[in-house]
Amino acid sequence: MPEATDEQKKRGGGFIESEMVAVLDFGGQYNQLICRRIRECGVYSELLPADLPVEKLRDLPLKGLILSGGPKSIYAKDALYPDPSLWELEVPILGICYGLQLMAQHYGGKVAGGEHAEYGPASLHITHGGPLFSDWGAEEPVWMSHGDRVLVAPPGFVVDAQTQETPIAAMHDTQRKRYAVQFHPEVSQTPKGMQLIRRFLMDICHCQGEWRLEDVVQQLVDQVRIQVGEQEEAICALSGGVDSAVAAAVAGRALGDRLHCIFVDHGLLREGEATQVLESFARLHIEVHYVDARESFLRQLEGVVDPEEKRKRIGAAFIRTFEVEAKRWGEVPFLVQGTLYPDVIESGSGASATIKSHHNVGGLPEDLHFSLVEPLRWLFKDEVRQVGLLLGLPETLVWRQPFPGPGLAIRIIGTVTPQRLQLVRQADAIVREEIEASGYHRQLWQYFAVLPGIRSVGVKGDARTYGETIAVRAVRSQDGMTAEWAPLPPALLAKIAQRLCNELPEVSRVVYDITTKPPATVEWE
Ligand code: XMP
Repeated sequence: MPEATDEQKKRGGGFIESEMVAVLDFGGQYNQLICRRIRECGVYSELLPADLPVEKLRDLPLKGLILSGGPKSIYAKDALYPDPSLWELEVPILGICYGLQLMAQHYGGKVAGGEHAEYGPASLHITHGGPLFSDWGAEEPVWMSHGDRVLVAPPGFVVDAQTQETPIAAMHDTQRKRYAVQFHPEVSQTPKGMQLIRRFLMDICHCQGEWRLEDVVQQLVDQVRIQVGEQEEAICALSGGVDSAVAAAVAGRALGDRLHCIFVDHGLLREGEATQVLESFARLHIEVHYVDARESFLRQLEGVVDPEEKRKRIGAAFIRTFEVEAKRWGEVPFLVQGTLYPDVIESGSGASATIKSHHNVGGLPEDLHFSLVEPLRWLFKDEVRQVGLLLGLPETLVWRQPFPGPGLAIRIIGTVTPQRLQLVRQADAIVREEIEASGYHRQLWQYFAVLPGIRSVGVKGDARTYGETIAVRAVRSQDGMTAEWAPLPPALLAKIAQRLCNELPEVSRVVYDITTKPPATVEWE
């Protein structure tokens, strides 16, 4: 079992790797994406604070460095600057957007403050080319998003490319191993961007590109074993979601029957969900303690209409149930959670030694007095899914759409009763079944049914009805922070509406929600 290396301990964890290309984080919106792109090329990468002292960087197995984009002008009062000795590093450095401007300024070029902002698609005209552009044509589409721009390249730099608005859209100095682009190679709107990143990693930094998730799974398992030790026990709250399931699968492999998972069935789950989770873990030989708390949660929700009150009551009931159930194993010192790398970055970057947990699975508070075990804290969501599959979790669980902790309760407007729960659950199953059968679900972030509690007049057979309305919601999103409604094909919507009205006698009307977020939210409550 490998012991953590000194470098790993200094930066608070991470993988033990022979090579790494780090990204310094100047606050740009695509920074996590740069890190992911590097990993996609088979090179391990972490996003580190912009002003990280260079001695810390020297401790890493660094083959190259990327300076990210950022929202500010380099002339802003609170502009972020790297440690000045960064420029003495011998490894190759690639500046992207703000990173290019920092580089140009440092080496004596001329950077103009924001009069010619350029946002969106642009056509890159390759003038000189240079090592990063060997497989680019003379004119290629790129994505721009900048205010400042470089007007004069520093002495010793060759200008590689320009756009209509930006005279120096790429430059390099082979001698010093410094490279920079004004556009964003990491986004899909720059179609040849991945080729550029790969060239930087392989041709310039001479990386081997052998980082594979298959190999890190064992490290994840070993890290849990090292942290928990050979004797102690751990518990894990399964929420039914991907992150807690994969964290439990990793911890289960590490600890065997010293891991105790608790799955609280609050009765607000979707059709078949509880059975699916239990079966998946039984196949992995991981013990799951099923708690049937359906009645007590329903009692807690009796007569509650206010959405915030529903959330509070569900959260509190969850914690109480968890605390009571956890006692069956005595004093267990460790709690396994499915915290992901983006959460770690958002709460103060992976480079800091005192990383605080950003979110808690199942809404568990930190004062439960456990030491946290977070095996996924260095992984992005898509990597977590792959790890789940590698550990034998079924695709249906690994690829499931996000589902809120308070469950179906926040998809029922007004009071939650067993009858209304049953109706929205059945409606949700029909919506999911049809969208999944059409294959359209691969383009969607979420798709579900809502019971808005609106009655309307209809006619079924020859009789007048006064039935329930079902609202169908299907959205596209990258991260749930913003969302667009999905233009589902009319034939698919028609089939969903027909099935909802035919199969559910209470339903006499179906509407489709066409609001984006903002101004709406994804969920109705
Ligand atoms: P909203 O409705 O805020 O949702 O636009 C954004 C994303 O978060 C999910 N969501 C939750 N997830 N506990 C969760 O674990 C919650 O209380 C919760 N509320 C919303 C929602 O499904 C969407 O993916």
